[in-house]
This record gives sequence, structure tokens and C-alpha cells, in this order.
Amino acid sequence: MRRFPATTSCAALALGLGLLVWGPPAAAAPAVLPQPLSIQEQTGAAIPAAAFQVEWSGHRDPALERAAQRFGAYVALRTGIDARLVKPTRLRIICAGPDPDALTLKAKEAYRLTVEAEGVTLTAEGPIGVLRGLATLRQAITSGPEGFVVPRMQVDDRPRFAWRGVMIDVARHFMTLETLKRQIDAMEQVKLNVLHLHLSDNEGFRVESRRYPKLQALASGGEYYTQAQVRELVVYAAERGVRIVPEFDVPGHSRALLAAYPELASRKGEADGAFAALNSALDPSLPETYAFLGGLFSEMAELFPDRYFHVGGDEVAGGDWASSPRVQDFMRRNGLTSKVELEAYFHRQVRDIAAARGKTMIGWEEIAHAPIADDVLVQAWRGSAAIARGTGQGNRVIVSAGYYLDLLETGESHYQIDPLDAAAYGMDAEEAARARAHPVLKSLLHEDVLKVPGLQLTAAQQALVLGGEAALWSELVTDEMLDGRLWPRAAVIAERLWSPAEVRDTDDLYRRLLRVQDGLRMAGLKDEANRDRMIARLSPGESEPVALLVSLVSPVRNFAHKASVQAIFHGRPGGRQDFNQLADIASPDSLVARRFGLDVRALIGGERAGAPALKAELRMWRDNHVRFLKVAEGRPMLQAAAPVSADIAALAELGLEAVGFIEAGRRPKAEWRARAAVMLEKQAAAERASSTFMQTVASPNQPPADLLIAIARPIGVLVAAAEGR
Ligand code: ACM
Repeated sequence: MRRFPATTSCAALALGLGLLVWGPPAAAAPAVLPQPLSIQEQTGAAIPAAAFQVEWSGHRDPALERAAQRFGAYVALRTGIDARLVKPTRLRIICAGPDPDALTLKAKEAYRLTVEAEGVTLTAEGPIGVLRGLATLRQAITSGPEGFVVPRMQVDDRPRFAWRGVMIDVARHFMTLETLKRQIDAMEQVKLNVLHLHLSDNEGFRVESRRYPKLQALASGGEYYTQAQVRELVVYAAERGVRIVPEFDVPGHSRALLAAYPELASRKGEADGAFAALNSALDPSLPETYAFLGGLFSEMAELFPDRYFHVGGDEVAGGDWASSPRVQDFMRRNGLTSKVELEAYFHRQVRDIAAARGKTMIGWEEIAHAPIADDVLVQAWRGSAAIARGTGQGNRVIVSAGYYLDLLETGESHYQIDPLDAAAYGMDAEEAARARAHPVLKSLLHEDVLKVPGLQLTAAQQALVLGGEAALWSELVTDEMLDGRLWPRAAVIAERLWSPAEVRDTDDLYRRLLRVQDGLRMAGLKDEANRDRMIARLSPGESEPVALLVSLVSPVRNFAHKASVQAIFHGRPGGRQDFNQLADIASPDSLVARRFGLDVRALIGGERAGAPALKAELRMWRDNHVRFLKVAEGRPMLQAAAPVSADIAALAELGLEAVGFIEAGRRPKAEWRARAAVMLEKQAAAERASSTFMQTVASPNQPPADLLIAIARPIGVLVAAAEGR
């Protein structure tokens, strides 16, 4: 296996032979993400990529032809060249045959891509492999002096895990069909293959039911998918090699359902208090509950053809069960002595209901707190120890622990987490102790939330890990924010799930990610377009300084920006939260800061020619402050970020001084070093205040406007280099 070197082999070869050959520099290495199993660079000039002429061998079907058309349309967007005006490059697609296992865990996703002088050859055992190969070829298009080209290479590729998903919560905020289709388009490009839709929760039930029409009439606020729309989405996803797995969350997280069918609730009427929703649940003692679920799941099982069917099972605090004489009596009569035993009883019924309809049940990790039927899939979400528990009990596991995108962590932090590492993610012992002391948090805790250093999976347990899912809960994600909250971080997790475990170089990841994200935008992703609108809304006609500030910051993490969390733990006003704050607009992983970080590393590595551009950028950031203040005048939403803008200016100035020291080869004086340390520590403290959920609970004071300065770290790297550290 060989990776593309950062410098071109042509130039290296010419220098090595001492030849005075001055050709144009070759085009940049392709930015393929996820990193394939093997890419071998071949010698010879890159071949033109302005247009392709597809030649089919072997299996061919209408869906594959449409995939080839989509590929052609993308090439036109990528190059801006009218295909009719250029000589096309030959693209041979050799598909061995149809794949009866397409859209299952056994789908044939492997492919080989060969780029030679005569053209491109894409070979795959089945249609899904062709889709994966086309995704790689798209990303391999690069530009150089010869125009748009694909470098000579051979790619041999297949996924590490069969289950590579994204979970989108469409219950808290409804997402339109158009928005979901955009996410599926992007998923195809980074080889993600499962869209898990969280379709019901306390806030809404989002699918039309003909059998139980009160669900959409009384529990959707008018925002739901018709059955025709669901069918359309399933087909759309299937054409892109993406399975749709529905989730209907029971017995908890079901207040919307219970608003429509209150006779199924374990407690009548609306309980109150901040945690009432967590205590609310279906009544597991009623035969009517199971009859209802049988009817609903029959209907939904037919609508969603995937073999897997998610039934939630998470976060039942149990308060309404404890206070219901009927439920308590049921427990006594059935010898159920705890909430966990009652839940296990419920899950067994639900598993049988799903199985009778040809479905394999999936549930969140709580369903494994008691043994459950072997065929059930467990989705680990709070800690990696849940992977060990689920697989230890013989169940297959999907990993979302460490992949929660709504926590607004960086892509880099998710990238570190390997699905087979049972010690990767969880609360440390001190945090767990604090959570246990909390009156309500304690009822939801379990030993599996604890990070267990050294915990390992046996080979047999590893074989039960199917893969993982990036999860995005949408309490703080509107339809307009979805693209920006999902991408580019979902692409980072896509690489973790597709590529070999040894692929771990973060700088290399971000170098590719910067280009892949632009590729997704060219294909229609709206993260940037929607962000621009949200900014323009705040400062029409003069949004430039606001946009610049937004590009350099990130929202605070781990629910620190969530009004309900601030209300519960810090006595702040709760109520409805709007999404017009800069913290709602800024990306959790600023790509400008990432690109700057790579430039800083290059400078420190000896590429001094980059210094003038770096300094120009730092001056621009510094000078943005006065412009931002002018726009912020009289606009409280922007005013709140004025101290952040001031800190950015000061950090940029510090960075400028650091570059000056590095260029001059001088060391800064103690006084400068002390000032730098204070400035950087202020930002580090701001980061710490929301670095975990329990930190958020312990930190009433978050930084102004709930914003972290994403360039603080790379400026810290410059400062350290200036100081010779
Ligand atoms: C969950 O995040 N409650 C599965």
C-alpha cells in the first residue's frame, strides 16, 4: 500500500537525476475520503477528467445507469465544462452481476479503480461496489496546469465495517424531504450506507399512519412524512446504496404518541417538572399497549423495507411507573422486582412483535441492561463499555458512543474513537460520582456510562461489532442548520467506519476534508449557503465582518448552549430557544481554523515562504474587530459577541508577533511569554467549561455569546514555536 506523497514524484525524480527538466508541476494528489484500503500511484501523465464516456461490461441496470448520469452531472459541476465540447475520457464499468444482498449487511461494496492512459476502469462484484467506486472517482478529480485531470493510480478498496450510518432526529425538529435527500447525496459520496431516522419522540410523531391517524392529526403539529413520501425517500436512498432504518421510540420518549392515545400512558395527564418527560412512558402492564404496537409496527414494517427496525428503549427514568398502582400491581403479579426487569419484560414483547413482522429489533444500549434475545442489535451511545456489555451478552452492536454530533465536538475528537475500543469513551470516575449525586441524573445512570481504562473486546466480541452511526439529535438543529451540523463531521466518522483502523493522521484527514467538503457543496450540500443566509439575516447588506468572525469560532459544546440545560442546572430562563445566535450559525469544527492550523504547522516545519500569507491573514482577523463593532451597533445578538471579536483581534496580534519571532529567529522576552500564557489560558478555560456534559453542569459561566475561538489553538502552536518549545 502506498499513499500519495505530498510532493510530486516527477519533481523529485527530475532533481534526483540532476536533470534540467522544467515541466509544469503535476496536479495535486487526489483527496479521497474515506481513505481507501490501498491507493497505488502510477507513473505517467494524469488523464483528462472534463467529461467521461461510460462503456458497460457485464451487469447493467437502470439504477446503475442513473448513477452514471449523476456522476456525469457532478463532473459538469466540478469542472464547469460542457461535456459536449470536449473529447471524453473512457470510463469502463465492469459489474460482475446483480447483488441479491444489496442493501443488506452482506452487500458487495468492494471495487477496484484503475486509471491508465487509455481511461478509467471500474470493476466491482455488484452495483453497490460500482457506486462506491464512482464516489472515489469523483473525489479523485483534481486540477492543475493541464486542467481537470485524474491521476494515474490503482485503488483497491472495501469497507472495514458493514454498518456505517447517520442518525437524524426528525422528531425534535422536522426535516423536509428535500433536506434529507441532500444528506443522502452527501452520504453516498463518503460511502455511508445507513440513514437511521428517529421518527418519534416527546416532541412529535413524524410518519402518516392510516391505522392510527390521530398520530399525525394530534402529535405532529402538521409536520410529518406521508406514506408516499416515505416510499419516495426509501427508493431515493436505495439508489444511492443507503438503507433507511426507522426508529419509533418506546416505551419512553413517547409523549407525542401518548398525546394522541392517552389511554396507553402509565400516568394520566401531564406530569410537570423539568424531568417529567423522562418519567413519562407507555404503560407496560396494558395488553392494549402491545396491541397498539403490533398494529403500528405492522404498518410501519411494510412501509420501511429494511430488515432492521429500531424501537428506542432509551432513557426511561421510571417515575410514572413507580407512581402507578396499576403498574406496581402488574410487577408484583409477574414477579418483576425492578425497573430494569419491567423494561426487560417490555422489550421482550416488542422484540417478538418486531420478529413476527419479519424485522430484527434494534434498541439503544439500555435494552442490554438485562439479557435480551440474541438476534437483537444494541446501539451503544453513552459509553464504550456498553459495546463490551452488548457483545459480551452475544448481541451484535452498533457504536454511537463517541459519535454524538449534537454535542458539538470537533471531528478530530470523533476521529480518535475506534468502534472496537471498549475503553474509548465515557465519563471518568469523578464525573460519574457527581452525576450519581444528582437527584434525577442518577436515575438514568448505569455503570456502562463509565469509561473503563483497559477494557478490551475478545475477538469473538469484536466480530459482533457491525459498525457505527454518527448521531445528530435535533433539539438545537433546525432544517436550515442540518447540513452544517452534520457535515463535515459525519465525513470524519465515515472514514473511521470505512478505512483501516491504522488510518489516523489528523492533519492528513483535514487536508482531504477541506477539499471533500467543497466537493459536497458543489454537489448541492447547503451548509455554507444556509450559514450565509443566517448571517445575512442578522446584518443585511453588511454581513462580511460577521461572516469572518463566524468562520473563526465554534459554539460551546456538550449542551452548554442548550437553554433547557441552562435552566435546569443553572437557574437561567428556559422556554423556547431561537436559532438566530452566532453560536447556532458557527460550525463546531471551523475549517478555516483547521486550514490555518495546517499552514501554521507547515511554517513551523520550515516552509518560511508561507509567512507573508499567514501574516496577511492574521492582520485581516485583527482588523476585523473595528468592522465587527460597527455592524454590531444596536444589534444585541451581535453585541454579545463583541468581547469574542476583541479576543480574536488580540490573539491575531499575538500570532503576528509570534511569526515575527519565528522569522527573525529571536526568542520572546519573559514579559511577552507571560502575556501570551494569560491570553491562551483564558481560551483554554473557556474550552474546559463545556469539555464534557458534567463540566457544563458544573460551569454556570460560559464564554460570551456561547462562542469558543477556534483559532486559539493554532495560535498557541505558533506561540510555542516562537518560544522554542
Ligand atoms: C439517546 O441519546 N437518548 C439515545
